[in-house]
Amino acid sequence: MAENPDPHDLFSLPGFTRPAPHGGFPAYELFPEVAYEIVHDELLLDGVARMNLATFCTTWIDEPARRLMAESLDKNIVDKDEYPQTAELEHRCVRMLADLWHAPDPATTLGTSTTGSSEAAMLGGLAAKFRWRARGGTGTPNLVSGPVQVCWEKFARYFDVELRQVPLRGDRYTLHPDDLAAYCDANTIAVVPTFGQTFTGLFEDVAAISAALDRLHASGGPDIPIHVDAASGGFLGPFTAPDLVWDFRLPRVKSINASGHKTGLAPLGVGWVVWREAADLPRELVFDVDYLGGHMPTFNLNFSRPGGQVITQYYDFIRLGRAGYTRVQSAIYLVARHFAEGLRALGPFELIHAGEPERGITAVAWRLVDGADYNLYDLSDRLRVRGWLIAAYPLPADRQDETIMRAVFRHGFTVDMVQLLLADIRRGLRQLTDNPRRTPLTRAEAGGFTHDARPEVPEQGPPPRA
Ligand SMILES: Cc1ncc(COP(=O)(O)O)c(C=O)c1O
Repeated sequence: MAENPDPHDLFSLPGFTRPAPHGGFPAYELFPEVAYEIVHDELLLDGVARMNLATFCTTWIDEPARRLMAESLDKNIVDKDEYPQTAELEHRCVRMLADLWHAPDPATTLGTSTTGSSEAAMLGGLAAKFRWRARGGTGTPNLVSGPVQVCWEKFARYFDVELRQVPLRGDRYTLHPDDLAAYCDANTIAVVPTFGQTFTGLFEDVAAISAALDRLHASGGPDIPIHVDAASGGFLGPFTAPDLVWDFRLPRVKSINASGHKTGLAPLGVGWVVWREAADLPRELVFDVDYLGGHMPTFNLNFSRPGGQVITQYYDFIRLGRAGYTRVQSAIYLVARHFAEGLRALGPFELIHAGEPERGITAVAWRLVDGADYNLYDLSDRLRVRGWLIAAYPLPADRQDETIMRAVFRHGFTVDMVQLLLADIRRGLRQLTDNPRRTPLTRAEAGGFTHDARPEVPEQGPPPRA
């Protein structure tokens, strides 16, 4: 072809002479290399995942895990009859998690993999709703929690449950057990403590919450089960704070969700929910589907899902075991604490969570001390210029007037990267001090890459019981 004398020069191939289709369904074909390069180049504008400290999710996996993901690209986890070994690995993971979280009989309890903690939370919530109904519950079911991740707001909206989020009073950052009695009643399907809060990374005190519910029941009140949202904490506490009692060691805890693709170290796309005992998962929620000659029980919102994430999760479990997970998670806490110390030394910050394994997840959360003529959105914006993605956002009700910042440290982030980040924070602070903006940035102007998308409708404040 005259216009393309060098067939190896990709960028002169037909297809690069006009922009890629954006709107209507494309009429013509492109060479695969051309289409690939267009998509690849478009993605250059995305942030660098490993510099994204706003995410909780896995951004580094080792080479064998990548190989397993590639090898299982074509396996649908729902086809349990066709891929019985994938189904077996999923079962083994459920049993291992039941053991890790101290279920009374890990061999017989039930659980499932999901697409992430959101689906797992919905399944845990649905089981609680069905159990409440089986106990004779009528009226509008409600769920009581502290400030929760948006998945619980979705659950409440999608499944007609009233969400009663206990506001943060005074200087509190987590759900306080003393507040519970005023929010619980006979229609409370469950209390949901978060073991590793999204906003601050702090653990809510599941044992104290359980004890408060024991007292409520003993004084003639309802007997309310607990579902623990351990999206991030479920793969940390057992290894790095084993004496912290938050799991099935508490008889009131009936189900737990966790994200395999967060601290579970699996690639994106897997979560887990496990019930204390088989009887805690109502039978009517489990579908037995006849499919391609097989007989398959499923309890999921999706039907087809990729199998690779579950397969790779099993690889992580057997590759690392308790010893390996303890080593990896301890190293990440070390990195988080190193960052917290550096941040403290920089000056104008008050640390809310400094990455202590007994207090919260592998994250650091901080606020700006009063008196600065810039805000945390300004700092977030400055850091973004250098490629760091670190979320700044307001605290939830009733502390919405306070802005905080949170950095989540994950496997693959090193002490050396902390040094680079601290140097950029120092540089950013100097720029902000030397060139004060007339109007500090707003949250919207700073861009949104947080996990706490609020619903568009006004929130209904829970009416405290008289
Ligand atoms: C406490 C908590 N629960 C649930 C979720 C939702 O998890 P996923 O992203 O796996 O759906 C998150 C996500 O950050 C979270 O922090």
